[in-house]
Amino acid sequence: MKKLPRSRSGFASFRKTPIFYRERGKGEAVVLLHGFMEHSEMWDFHAKELSHTYRVITIDLPGHGKSGNLGYVHSMELMADAVKAMLKALDIRRCHMIGHSMGGYVALAFAETEPDMLKSLTLFHSTASEDTPEKKKNRLKAIKIIKKDLVRYVNEAIPALFYRGIKLYTQQIKKAKRMALENSNRGIVAAQQGMHDRIDRTIILPFAPYRLHYIIGEFDEILPAEKLKEEASYNKKTTVTFLEDCGHMGHVECPLESLKAIRMFLKG
Ligand code: MLT
Repeated sequence: MKKLPRSRSGFASFRKTPIFYRERGKGEAVVLLHGFMEHSEMWDFHAKELSHTYRVITIDLPGHGKSGNLGYVHSMELMADAVKAMLKALDIRRCHMIGHSMGGYVALAFAETEPDMLKSLTLFHSTASEDTPEKKKNRLKAIKIIKKDLVRYVNEAIPALFYRGIKLYTQQIKKAKRMALENSNRGIVAAQQGMHDRIDRTIILPFAPYRLHYIIGEFDEILPAEKLKEEASYNKKTTVTFLEDCGHMGHVECPLESLKAIRMFLKG
C-alpha cells in the first residue's frame, strides 16, 4: 500500500492574529492559495495528490476558514504579508505558488516584493489586471448585500462561478456554499474591499524571474478567457492551460485535468 503523506496542521501568528495552515508531503514546497469565500479545504484533492511528490502547504487567508481577521480591509498586500510570515515560520525559502482567483491576486502581491522566493507562479483563473470601473461598483454593491444578508449573497454568487452549461454541479455548488458560509461575514467584506482596492500588476509579468502559468476556464464568467489569454502573452515564456467546458472553478469542475496541468508545469 502506498504510504500516506505526513500531514500536519496548526496556526502561525501574524500581527497577533492566528493564521491556519496545513502541510502535507515532502519535497519542493508548493503553496496553494484559495479564492474569495473559499478556504483551504477547497484544495483538498490537489493537495493530497501533489503531496505524493511535493511538500504542499495550504493556508486559510486572513478572514477565511480558521484564520482570524486583521482589520476591516484585507488588502492583497496584507494577505501576501501573512503568507510571507507563514513561509518564514515554516522555514520555506523558495516555493512554487498557485493562487486561485483572489489567491492569485495575493500571489501577485507576494511576487512583487519577493520575486526571488518564487520558483514558479500559477494564476489559476486569476489576473494581474485591476478591476474595471464597473466591477469596482459591483463590489461596493456586493459589500452592502453581504453586510445585510450573507446567505442571499452566497446563494447568488456561488452558482455563477460554475459553468452554467453543465447542470451536474449540484453537490459541488452545495459544498462551495457550505464553505463560503464557514467564513466570517467581516472577513468576506474585508476581502471584497481589498480586491476592490487592488492595483494593476501586469507590469511585473514580462520581467518575472520565475516560471509563469495561466490556467484559464473556457466559460469563466468572472474572468473571461479571451482577456486572460491576452494577458498571458505579456510574457512570451508563459505556459497556458485552457480548460474546456469549465467555468471559474477548474479545481472543482475539472479536478483531473487541472491536476495534470499543474503536475506537468511543476515538473518543468
Ligand atoms: C474569486 O473567486 O476569488 C473571486 O471571484 C475573484 C474576484 O471576485 O475577482
